[in-house]
This record gives sequence, C-alpha cells and structure tokens, in this order.
Amino acid sequence: MRTTAVKPANGPTVMLPFKMSLLVAGTLIVFGLVVGTFGIDHFSSVLRAEAIRHGKAVASTLASSLIEIIATQQDAAVSAAIRSAKRMAGLAYVEVVHADGTLMAHTYEGNPPQRKSEVRQETMQIQDDTVADHGVIDIPAEVITGAVIHVGLDRSAIEAKVNKARLVVIGLTVVEVMLAILALFWAVRPFVRHLSDTNRELATNVRKLQETQEQLRMARDASDEANRAKSLFLANMSHELRTPLNAIIGYSEMLIEDAEDQEQQETVLDLKKIHLAGKHLLDLINDILDLSKIEAGKMDIHPEIFAISDLLDEVTSTVQPIVAKNSNNLKVTITDDIGMMHSDLTKIRQSLLNLLSNAGKFTERGTIWLQAEREMVDSRDWLTFRIRDTGIGMAPAHMEKLFKEFVQADTSTTRKYGGTGLGLAITRRFCRMLGGDVVVESTLGQGSTFTLRLPREASLAANNLSGVQGRDRCCIERQLA
Ligand SMILES: Nc1ncnc2c1ncn2[C@@H]1O[C@H](COP(=O)(O)OP(=O)(O)O)[C@@H](O)[C@H]1O
Ligand SMILES: [Mg+2]
Repeated sequence: MRTTAVKPANGPTVMLPFKMSLLVAGTLIVFGLVVGTFGIDHFSSVLRAEAIRHGKAVASTLASSLIEIIATQQDAAVSAAIRSAKRMAGLAYVEVVHADGTLMAHTYEGNPPQRKSEVRQETMQIQDDTVADHGVIDIPAEVITGAVIHVGLDRSAIEAKVNKARLVVIGLTVVEVMLAILALFWAVRPFVRHLSDTNRELATNVRKLQETQEQLRMARDASDEANRAKSLFLANMSHELRTPLNAIIGYSEMLIEDAEDQEQQETVLDLKKIHLAGKHLLDLINDILDLSKIEAGKMDIHPEIFAISDLLDEVTSTVQPIVAKNSNNLKVTITDDIGMMHSDLTKIRQSLLNLLSNAGKFTERGTIWLQAEREMVDSRDWLTFRIRDTGIGMAPAHMEKLFKEFVQADTSTTRKYGGTGLGLAITRRFCRMLGGDVVVESTLGQGSTFTLRLPREASLAANNLSGVQGRDRCCIERQLA
C-alpha cells in the first residue's frame, strides 16, 4: 500500500516563505496607508506655505517700490502699479489701505467688495477671508507712510494644486497596496498548493479508510454469521455425538460387569479401553460445546451459596484417581476463615478440575498442592485458589499463548500426553465471567503454579449479575458472613 502521509519536512519549508511574505506584505500595506494619509496633509500645507511665501515676497516688493509714490499721493501711478503687480504675480486682488481703514487704491473692477475692517486695518497677520464669494488668503505689508498693502491669494488655486497632489498620492498608495497583495498571493501559492495536495491526500486516505471499514464490517458480519452457524452446528453435532457415545459408555460398562462375572480378564481389559476412550471423547465434546456456548454469548451464570471446603472435598476426591495414576501426592491446605462463597459452583468446580487434572497429567512421582485462602484487595473480598505442581513446567514462550483455544505447549505434549488444549481456555473464560482471572507461573523442568482469583461474591463483580439487589442482597450477605 502506498504511503500518502504528509511529509513533516514540507511544513517548515512551506511555512517560512509564507510567514515572511505575510509580514512583508502587511508592512507594505500599513506603510502605504500611513504615507498616503500623512503625505496628503503634508503636501497641502507645503503648497499653502509656498503660496504664502510667494505672496509675501510680492507684497513686500510692492510696498518698497510704492513708498515714494504713495507719499507723494500719485494715485493714478499707485493704481497702475498694483494692477500690473496683480496681473504679473497672478493675485486675486491688491488693496492699498489707509491706517483708518479706508481704501486708497484697489484692483477690483467697479466698486470694491465689502470686507471686515479688521482685515483691512491688520498690518501683520495673514488671514483667510472671503472676497466676492471667493476664498482668499490676505497678506498685509506695511508701507512706512501709514498705508498698508494687502495682497490676496486665490485659495481655490492652491486647493486645486492640493487636489492634484492628493490624487497622485492616493494613486501611488493604491498601486503600492495592490502590488503588496499580488506579492502576497504569489508567495502564498506554494502553501495553497501544498494545502490542496494535503487535502487531496487526506480525502484519499479517508476514502480508503472508509473502504477498509466497510470491508471490515462485511468481514465481521460474515464472521458473526459463520460463528453463529458454527455454534449451531456444534450444538447439533454434540447432541448427535453424545447420544451414541453415552450408549457406547453405558453398554461397555454393562459388558465389563458381564465379563468380570464370567472372569474373562482379557475382554475386561479391552472393554475398559473402549469405556475410557468413550469417556475421553465425551469430555472433549463437552469442552467444545462449552466453548461454543461461551463464544455465542449463551453461557449463563448461575450463582449459588456454597461452602468452599465442601467444594474442595468434592474436587479432590474426583481428581484423586488422576493424581494417583502418575504416583503423585496431593496436599490440600485451607485457611480456617475460608467460609462460604456466592458464585457459579459448576464453573468453579470445572475450572479447579481442569487445573488439577493438568497438574496430575504433567507431573510424575511428584507433589501437587491445592491451597485456598481469603484475601482483601481494595476493600473487596477475594478467594485465591493456588494449584502448584513439581511437574514438567513450561518455557516462557509457551506460557504466553497457553490460555488460547486449542493451544498446547508444543506438539510433543500432544503426542505424549494427549489432550486438546481447551481446558485452560475454558477456565480463563469462566474465571473472567465470574469477575476474576487465572494466571500462571512456571519454570521448565521444575513445575508450574496456576493461581485462580475470584471475588467471594460473583454478583458484586460480574457485569451480568448486577441484578441481585435489596432483600436478596441482604440475605446473601448474611449467609456469607
Ligand atoms: N501443570 C502443567 N504443567 C505443565 N504444562 C501444563 C500444565 N497445565 C497446562 N500445561 C500446558 O498447557 C497446555 C494447555 O492445557 P489445557 O488447555 O488444559 O489443554 P490440554 O490439557 O488438553 O492439553 C497443555 O497442553 C500443556 O502444554
Ligand atoms: Mg487440560
């Protein structure tokens, strides 16, 4: 399968220019806007100052050249001079004003317009004013003879220039911002391409995942179906097998008795073999049926209250022949406080028998210990059953898969000891159903210890037993105490 994961190396190489360009473009845009705004203000004040400077120069030149003519009161000459000055310097008007505010000469066509007398009497201050509805800047220049020359600048002319400058500045700012945005897009391109590639890869991965999920779901459905079919088949088959097997076992028992009565020792031995083989086959079928019931979720728990010492008595007497067969010694240790238990007796009995018969099977001329004790863990009452033997033991590699179905330590075990590898699998499933577990410790050639730990009260631990409440609960607790 092709790996489509995003290479982490792409991250920094793409992100760095992206961040840089974002920074540069951002700076350029801010810079452009600031320069644009302040540039317009600056331009208009520079243009106004320049116009005023020009007006002042004209006014003072005019004043110095008119001193003599005004002193000698040659009005016609004054009028001619100021007219030509107005024309040459492009002024709005020129007025010659006496100290009392009366007009001595002016450049207006016809009557002079009304103006505030403060403006005309002003000898120093440059002021904005309105003359015949036109905005003007009035620049005074004092003549020594007591007259003042006022030179008027046309404000609209200055504003027209300012507007032109404003247009240029705005245009430049817009171009600069556009260029910055273009540069940004250009720089961001690989990043966007990378993102869309990643997106496409992600979409492909998601699609593949969905396909795999769908396949898995189908496989699970098929396996569930097969499992159901298997369970049904096994249930039917075990019934079909058990009926003739029980007949074989029953008839062989009858025939053994007959042969013993007739003292036909050889026949007895052969019949016993048939009987043993039949029983072995029946055990096997029962194990398979148990496992298929567990797998199909049809194995129920039937809790009951029982004395642990009774259980151990029963188990040891059942297992005694198997233990004795290999000349083994069975030692049982029970603590005094062992008491009662509320759990599934049949399942615990079967688990203990599985472990004890294994110990008997895999130990020769040795000792087998069965110990039972009570333990408090996390303020909960537990029972620990320990089955220890001095038998063949196991290698660590074998111990890992021991509790899986149909697994035996190695193939030589099957050849030598027989068996199917189902006992431990069933034991573990039973223990977990009852809220506990079983674990193993073993040393090859020295022996094994299987420890089975179960809650004294299965209903407190097993999920499927949560229904025991109220009066029943009190009753159980009283009996266990
Ligand atoms: N007490 C033991 N000592 C050594 N090996 C053991 C012991 N108990 C179990 N085993 C190993 O675990 C395997 C699985 O045991 P089990 O599930 O009971 O199947 P079976 O007894 O049918 O072989 C056995 O075949 C054996 O290899
Ligand atoms: Mg076994």
